[in-house]
Amino acid sequence: MKRIYLDNNATTQVRPEVLDAMLPFFREQFGNPSSVHWAGRAVAGAVEKGREQVAKLLNCSPAEVVFVSCGSEGDNFAIKGTVEALRDKGNHIITTKVEHPAVLNTCQALEKQGCRITYLGVDADGMIDLKELEAAITDQTILISVMWGNNETGTLFPIEEIGAIARKYKVRFHTDAVQAVGKVPVDVQKANVDLLVLSGHKIGAPKGVGAIYIRRGTKMTPLLHGGHQERNRRAGTHNVAGIVGLGVACDLAGAQLEECAAKMKRLRDKLEQGIREQVPEIKVNGHPTLRLPNTLNVSFAYIEGESLLLNLDMKGIAASSGSACTSGSLEPSHVMGAMCVDVLLAHSSTRFSLGPETTEEDIDFVLQELPAIIERLRQMSPLYNRQGKPLTCDECRVIRSV
Ligand SMILES: Cc1ncc(COP(=O)(O)O)c(C=O)c1O
Repeated sequence: MKRIYLDNNATTQVRPEVLDAMLPFFREQFGNPSSVHWAGRAVAGAVEKGREQVAKLLNCSPAEVVFVSCGSEGDNFAIKGTVEALRDKGNHIITTKVEHPAVLNTCQALEKQGCRITYLGVDADGMIDLKELEAAITDQTILISVMWGNNETGTLFPIEEIGAIARKYKVRFHTDAVQAVGKVPVDVQKANVDLLVLSGHKIGAPKGVGAIYIRRGTKMTPLLHGGHQERNRRAGTHNVAGIVGLGVACDLAGAQLEECAAKMKRLRDKLEQGIREQVPEIKVNGHPTLRLPNTLNVSFAYIEGESLLLNLDMKGIAASSGSACTSGSLEPSHVMGAMCVDVLLAHSSTRFSLGPETTEEDIDFVLQELPAIIERLRQMSPLYNRQGKPLTCDECRVIRSV
């Protein structure tokens, strides 16, 4: 059976160059980078090389890069590390309703500890209003945490403008750039960010490694206490192989960004256009233009997203309904909720996320199989009436309220 992977926002394949670079660090280069002897010294150099590669991609100094275990740890560190460090200054954080749970659940946990959180809403395209953001800032605001690109819809937030607002009011700015890095240019100087988080497994490096950019002079309380690794900012023996892999993945992302983004966008647009032409009553979720080049989120009226995923899977096509962290829950996605997508459409929202390996044939195959699957599922749907005539939105609402 064909295997077509269109779930790159959940995770990506480890790139062959990344794996090749990592392998020696599972074999002969086994030392602990904190050891002073030959075995440690050889490995410490590799960790520093990885740091330089991450720094080059983000346009910062290597000393501003701290390695962590994943994007979730980076987001926790950015937010909790700021709250602890700036306790004397205030306790107010501004974020959005559409952040990844790594940010939202961290904020909710902090709310229980007395922090005040403003969750900015979004419009129907998933976009925030900068005037609302600016109006939310008070003399107690210690952090603005706004993601760069949304993992479910791909909507890109105006990070540079938010950075300028944060600068104007002297408020620290954190961005979760887990989905943006490797897909759009990410430059921490241009963006005026103080804290930025990325994750290895979203950019062709393995799971278990990530990094946080911490602008020089930004006071942070560590999340993990222990040894003196990472200049006392993150205790724990380094994941050397992971860091080496992350460094190579960042090099590749930087060198291939334009070409790769253009290819993914062309194929994503072909998929979107093909679906629009062949499948009636769909809704594309997310901003029409300000969107990650690899992401397409579509709602198919009258069907359940989960049944669509299973049917696609039977044809070897991997896609996703919402983020991997929330699938398995019957609640419609919080992102769709914030965008006020009708609850039935929200239940059918399906995310196709392309990667550097996605081919024209992959997209052709999806366009060949998907319309028939949708038609079959619609024929079985109680929301689709007997004559094959779809119910109106009002009729759907009546069914829902019964
Ligand atoms: C926007 C965003 N932030 C954070 C994370 C968490 O990253 P990790 O899986 O490395 O913990 C994800 C993962 O899907 C994500 O998409």
